[in-house]
Amino acid sequence: LSEENQSILSAHEWLQKLYHHLLRFTKDGKEGYQYLIDRGIKQETIDLFQLGFAPNVKDFTAEFLEKKGFHQQVLVKAGLLSLRDDDTVADRFRGRVIFPIRNHLGKTVAFGGRAIAGQEPKYLNSPESDLFQKGKLLYNFDQAKKHIRSSGEAILLEGYMDVIAAFQAGVKNVIATLGTSLTENQAKLLRRYVDTVVVCYDSDNAGTEAAYKAANLLRQVGCKVKVARMEDGMDPDDYIKAYGANAFTDKVIKASDTYMSFYMRYMKKDYNLNLEGDRINYLEIVLKQLAVIDNAVEREYYVKELSREYGLTMDTLNQEILKIRQNMG
Ligand code: GTP
Ligand code: MN
Ligand code: MN
Ligand code: MN
Ligand code: MN
Repeated sequence: LSEENQSILSAHEWLQKLYHHLLRFTKDGKEGYQYLIDRGIKQETIDLFQLGFAPNVKDFTAEFLEKKGFHQQVLVKAGLLSLRDDDTVADRFRGRVIFPIRNHLGKTVAFGGRAIAGQEPKYLNSPESDLFQKGKLLYNFDQAKKHIRSSGEAILLEGYMDVIAAFQAGVKNVIATLGTSLTENQAKLLRRYVDTVVVCYDSDNAGTEAAYKAANLLRQVGCKVKVARMEDGMDPDDYIKAYGANAFTDKVIKASDTYMSFYMRYMKKDYNLNLEGDRINYLEIVLKQLAVIDNAVEREYYVKELSREYGLTMDTLNQEILKIRQNMG
């Protein structure tokens, strides 16, 4: 590790402690603390994730770290301070609840900051650096790793708050990407630890689109994929708050769809199934996907379902699948 990177790690360590201390024990951090408590986060969870608060002061962080002897230039490079037009520096995180982002060794390499008074953007993350590459890191992987191993399953969520709410509720094999699409690097990392990944993104349009992409990528690297679903508009954090941890485990995670079921539902959005032509086109792409499944029992299961739903004999559907399989070679 270069001297500069060592210094950056050390600055993050100091700041994490400072922000956390402010949130837990001081008047300056009270609004951050109250925000988390109001969202159902318990004190012990706040401590476990070392959540903190950056006050809405222009140079609070700058002054603190400069007194500790850190070079301004390094702090700017690390994204803890931002350089302004007049060449002065200002704190990057202001008036935000702070989520330390730890790498897989447990070292804090970045922060995420959530606005608590409606500022934009809602979440502000540290910029990328040598030490922090969003596409290579999964939030909470350091704590989730052993639970992922022991359960044989990883649950992929969208956001910090989803991970924290699930972890607090006892569902500990949870990780999240940092507001970006899952990358091949992250998918391969998961594959090294588990066979099965449950994708449980927000049940909104953006979440469903992202889930489709993530699911395909995970399959490409050899994972078995399941896709979970909640009521419209909900995310895991909302769901756990509304219905509790047991319901989340039993009705969302355990009840998650196979990739094929998800695919059949997802693809319907592109077709008007009241129209004969669309129905046929839809069936065609579904059969193509079905043909890829090697397990005949599994195939048969969906063939039955399609036969029932679209009033075609299983024979017809099976013949079509056979044709596709023969063409695949
Ligand atoms: P809450 O409103 O706090 O419950 O957040 P959420 O996690 O439900 O937010 P959302 O579903 O909108 O986003 C999921 C994740 O995407 C967040 O945890 C962030 O990591 C990221 N994200 C959301 N909004 C922004 C943003 O405005 N900027 C950036 N950089 N990331 C964001
Ligand atoms: Mn959003
Ligand atoms: Mn979302
Ligand atoms: Mn969300
Ligand atoms: Mn949310």
